[in-house]
Amino acid sequence: MRVTIGMQKGGVGKTTTTINTAGALAERGHDVLAIDADPQGALTLKLGHKEQYRRFSDNPNEDAEALIDVLTQDGDMEFDQLDDLIISGGEYDIIPAHMRNFLAEKSLYTDRRGFESLKIALNRSDIDYDYVLIDSPPNLGPLADAALLAAENVLFPSEPNVIAQESLKILFDEVETLEDQFEVKIRAIGAILNQVPAQGSIAADMQDWFTETFGEDRVLSVPDRDAIEHAIEYETSIYAYDPDDAGYPWDSDPINELRDCYLSIAELLEEINNE
Ligand SMILES: Nc1ncnc2c1ncn2[C@@H]1O[C@H](COP(=O)(O)OP(=O)(O)OP(=O)(O)O)[C@@H](O)[C@H]1O
Ligand SMILES: [Mg+2]
Repeated sequence: MRVTIGMQKGGVGKTTTTINTAGALAERGHDVLAIDADPQGALTLKLGHKEQYRRFSDNPNEDAEALIDVLTQDGDMEFDQLDDLIISGGEYDIIPAHMRNFLAEKSLYTDRRGFESLKIALNRSDIDYDYVLIDSPPNLGPLADAALLAAENVLFPSEPNVIAQESLKILFDEVETLEDQFEVKIRAIGAILNQVPAQGSIAADMQDWFTETFGEDRVLSVPDRDAIEHAIEYETSIYAYDPDDAGYPWDSDPINELRDCYLSIAELLEEINNE
């Protein structure tokens, strides 16, 4: 099953959701691949692959293998070589971002197969995982569209505020446009209300809007907890994070609470995958 974690609004928790949902699926025994489709490379950097992100950047003529090369087909790489980019990880594997991927946006716009390039690459290469999660960039550009078309399933992280509703409506329009243009069905898996404040709850009318839009079982919440950031400092998901080793022994309660949240998200994906 492929799922893109999409929302054009910045800083709503796409990367955090990808890192920890991938961790939860791996914890539940699945083979997982996370693809960093955001040229900013937050997932890649947060999981500790800084050299990978900048590799060969001083010499653009050098044969630097990056997602852009597979998607644009401008160099030597073919669609079926997507698996050459995989980095194996302790929890799950990733396809990292590279800073050159910023240039992909422009050429994917003009390329006939640009929007479908990630889907073609995933279909043609020997990529065989139980779950492929795609961390999407914070825009409605061609990489975000390519992620939606490649996955045909989308999970929407949102802040629990009124702006989130407007952002979601814009994204729904984009999804509909892609569905019409490419004659596909893109399934809305659900919403993750992220960084829900510790004190105070979400306004009732907003909670109602989310449950009416996605269905009661399809709206999950993740609380605002420093432990999320501490796990990132540790360069793992919250499942491989060891609060004692990291010097934050007081994280053990919040980390258990967070682990339960992302396990629920993983279970939702399993349920839909098994439908
Ligand atoms: N539940 C949470 N509790 C505490 N901090 C969080 C939580 N979720 C996300 N954050 C923090 O909020 C910030 C933004 O999250 P994240 O990077 O996942 O968002 P994003 O949507 O991927 O951003 P961008 O649009 O820039 O890609 C990060 O610093 C992250 O560590
Ligand atoms: Mg991000």
